[in-house]
Amino acid sequence: MSGRIVVVGAGLAGLSAALTVAEQGFEAALVSLRPSERAQSVMAEGGINAALGWDDDVRNHYDDTLKAGRFLADPNAVRGLTEAAPGILRRLVELGALFNMRDGKPELRYFGGQKIKRTAFARSGTGKQLMSAVIQEVRKYEARGLITRYDRHVFAGLLRDGNGCTGCVVRDTFSGEPLHLRGCVVISTGGMHGIFGCTTGSSDNTGAVTAALFRMGVPVANGEFVQYHPTTVSIPGKRLLISEAARGEGGRLFVLRGGKPYYFMEDKHPEFGNLAPRDVVSREMWALGAEQAYLDMTGLSGSVFRTRLSDTLEDCLEYLRLDPRKEPVPVAPGVHYFMGGIQVDERHRTALPGLYAAGESCCQYHGANRLGGNSLLGAIYGGMRAAESVMSDGRPGNVGAFIPADAEPDASASPAAQNAVRSALGIARDRAGMEAGIAALEELRGDIPLLGRAILAGALLRKESRGAHFRKDYPDENDAAFRKTTVVSYDGRNISVRFENIPERR
Ligand code: FUM
Repeated sequence: MSGRIVVVGAGLAGLSAALTVAEQGFEAALVSLRPSERAQSVMAEGGINAALGWDDDVRNHYDDTLKAGRFLADPNAVRGLTEAAPGILRRLVELGALFNMRDGKPELRYFGGQKIKRTAFARSGTGKQLMSAVIQEVRKYEARGLITRYDRHVFAGLLRDGNGCTGCVVRDTFSGEPLHLRGCVVISTGGMHGIFGCTTGSSDNTGAVTAALFRMGVPVANGEFVQYHPTTVSIPGKRLLISEAARGEGGRLFVLRGGKPYYFMEDKHPEFGNLAPRDVVSREMWALGAEQAYLDMTGLSGSVFRTRLSDTLEDCLEYLRLDPRKEPVPVAPGVHYFMGGIQVDERHRTALPGLYAAGESCCQYHGANRLGGNSLLGAIYGGMRAAESVMSDGRPGNVGAFIPADAEPDASASPAAQNAVRSALGIARDRAGMEAGIAALEELRGDIPLLGRAILAGALLRKESRGAHFRKDYPDENDAAFRKTTVVSYDGRNISVRFENIPERR
């Protein structure tokens, strides 16, 4: 490799990419608006998956991941992810991540879409613990000069020559000064939460970098697959996540019928009950219409709250002024995760040579619906894979032309765009609603409305229901026509959508 790697985004995927190259003696520039301690990865709660249990194996994890994603994920990529998971967990333990431990190994809990205990956890604040361990490790390489941080910098555009990406320009948010960073670029700026607004994610994860790259011609894949987490509560400016861990530990969903609790998931989905995949649970809650759903944790012991759900307890007490040990929590589905994003191949290469993407910003591993517990894993593994690809591809490149991120005012937080996308891409969609969304976005200028239109164009063409994409007008899954990846591109004038075949399993 010549030059260095420029990583944009310093959450778990970005840290993993930077660490992977630094461990091989190469330099990384790590660019982020805020310090890693403020990244969305810190908010992750319930845990991280790895087939570590005596009754589990990698093949089960692989099968559950593909099945939860309704067979839309690249099977070879998922094989790599699930095979790497046990080693990643061991490494995190070595780095000092404070998992709940039993007999010298991370303890495992039940999580959605999995019948086997496979989710390692640190109470209900897993993201904080993983991030703090990885940040410490990255600091060693910062001290050696192999990783250089550019905090308080934002992506301002790509450097390109005739062959692809040769670096990027970032802007200091204090001084406004631009800085040219040369090298292969890994984007790890998180999901497109700003397009929706009021999600469980960080409001810093606006999707603005994805939108800017899309305008520059980098395709986006499977954008219509937006995960609604079943148990969230509205608080000012966002949705508070009540971790799936609460159901993993025995929490039950119910509605009141004739004054008595009706445990609808246990009745309708006896196989998985309250721990069905998230798209299934959220759809059942949507079908309840105006009926208020509750999460009942009152049957859990004090020790479960203390040792396994302490963050959930604190969140309920602090933000909801409600004690979940004593009363059920009123919950509703909220936007939580984006399965789609920048299109990458198995090695995390985008369509533009020299440009890579990892973590929630890219489309990889999760198909039509992500399995709970695979997000932290996908971030770490994706960052590693992207970094390995950079090291093996080693594009030198000239500095070339500068393509600015956006000449328009930043529209990432535009309520008009958010409203249009949110009402068109709810848990249940239909043609009329999506066309209305596109028409509303056509009235708006900027990268975010353009990306919103692109996602809706893909959603409109996918005339079936699969995973998180449920269409009232096409309620069935249609493998023959649509077990394919939706790829949306922009050529500077028009948005075009095509469906690409899923790679064959090697
Ligand atoms: O519910 C949760 O703790 C979320 C976990 C995840 O998205 O993987």
